[in-house]
Amino acid sequence: MAEAGKKQNKIYVVYLQQVLDVTDFDHPGPKENITDNVGKDITELFEDAEHSNYAIELCQKYVIGQLADNTGKLLQNDFIQMSKEEEELHKQIENKIDIKKPLISQVKKLTNKEFMFFVKRPRFMESHDGI
Ligand code: HEM
Repeated sequence: MAEAGKKQNKIYVVYLQQVLDVTDFDHPGPKENITDNVGKDITELFEDAEHSNYAIELCQKYVIGQLADNTGKLLQNDFIQMSKEEEELHKQIENKIDIKKPLISQVKKLTNKEFMFFVKRPRFMESHDGI
């Protein structure tokens, strides 16, 4: 994930299994808390620093996607609320798409609705670019 960010000159960090793009975020705390943790999971550090509710809400503003496991399946997370319908759709999508393989030909297999849900929750895996 750090690599995916580096390629695009972006600063990505992980918070509660969500990928945050904090490239344009000017951290009011020590800047190195972010710059030392590019591509890393900052959940524990973030919580240890006892951030305000405002800071927690701010994190949501920077979410660009979710972490996936090493097969590309979205990781479950209490933080992310999905309707039953959305959960079912993601199961269907995971059966049709292998995000480690070239995507264009695979995306053709999706219905319009599946495609919309797929792009709405971009997936990120270690050492792969995200979609
Ligand atoms: C990337 C997501 C992060 C966001 C959106 C964020 C946001 C903020 C905000 C808004 C504040 C001002 C005080 C508050 O409202 O709580 C703050 C302060 C602070 N943050 Fe973060 N932070 C992030 C990551 C981190 C990380 C990873 C660390 C620690 C390793 C950290 C350590 C601190 C510290 C120590 C302060 C207090 C500074 C002071 O009071 O002098 N932050 N952060």
